[in-house]
Amino acid sequence: ADSLRALGAQEGLRVGTAVDMAQLGTNQAYTQLVADQFSVVTPENVMKWDSVEPSRGTYNWQPADQLVQFAQQHKQLVRGHTLMWHNQIPSWLTSGVADGSISNAQLREILHQHVTDEVGHFRGKIWQWDVANELIANSWDSHPLADGVNGDDFWVQHLGEGIIADVFRWAHEADPKALLMYNDYNIAGEDGTNAKFQAVYDLVKRLRAQGVPIDGVGEQGHLDTQYGFDAQRFQADLQAFGDLGLKVAVTEADVRTFVDNATDQVPTSQLAQFAQPEEFSEMLKGCQLVRQCISFTAWGVYDGDSWIPGTFGGEGYGLLYDVKLQPKPAYFALQQDL
Ligand code: XIL
Repeated sequence: ADSLRALGAQEGLRVGTAVDMAQLGTNQAYTQLVADQFSVVTPENVMKWDSVEPSRGTYNWQPADQLVQFAQQHKQLVRGHTLMWHNQIPSWLTSGVADGSISNAQLREILHQHVTDEVGHFRGKIWQWDVANELIANSWDSHPLADGVNGDDFWVQHLGEGIIADVFRWAHEADPKALLMYNDYNIAGEDGTNAKFQAVYDLVKRLRAQGVPIDGVGEQGHLDTQYGFDAQRFQADLQAFGDLGLKVAVTEADVRTFVDNATDQVPTSQLAQFAQPEEFSEMLKGCQLVRQCISFTAWGVYDGDSWIPGTFGGEGYGLLYDVKLQPKPAYFALQQDL
């Protein structure tokens, strides 16, 4: 049967994966799957700030350059991830802010430099940049500012909400052709009240109205089969972003569940009711039905190499390939839908 990338190409949809540079080129089966199945790649970690500038003024572009080169060789596009986020910031920066040796005015200049350097380094080679990542409070968080922006967010806390518009402007100056995205989780169909969707919607609408160069919204799509997922809401929310004149993308899809510790698999007793293939399929269909949706990316290739077990205790089994790199029912569901 045809690969996901070939099937996606027939309908103008890029199908992607996050890539772990510890595996690409060393794990042959992994490398082959990345090349064969996907038409867009996102570096799982190597474009994050702590990876590209581990000590101040010393840049490490090597693993990210390697991925860009791989993508070019395999006719894949690249999603740049990510420029402004509260996680995976270098420790020289966080400690400098904490001990007062970096003032807020300096922090702003450091961020400006970072965006200019990184976007400039990859200029012309990145299809979509996740410019700002996870700035909005969850509906259960306690300190939203205006429009739901998270008052506890590291960047907003130090630099004010205006930093969001500025970071998009800086990225646009450094690479005018890249699509600039706001990326977040629980913003389409996952959050019962839909409050987080509304906050992101208000934010991006306001940015558009101010003429800020934002091109789209990324919905991460980290689902968990133990929580309800509203597929109609998912599609409606993506469409609402599209109706603002924005592109949309599903950027980090995975569907986790509780697994048997010994096997890292869903216990057989639960498999029959297990909603993973359906939920992957519903996310893909939501994207397919929204004209502005340009890519659908899974957050990793296989269950043997996923962020889920390390972040959500007892959970796993979230991806399209199993621990032995064999395609799962979720893979075949996507293949059938494409
Ligand atoms: C995760 C990576 O998958 C892990 O390897 C890393 O240790 C932590 O970050 N939202 C995002 C991604 O935007 O960058 C995160 O990736 C997962 C959640």
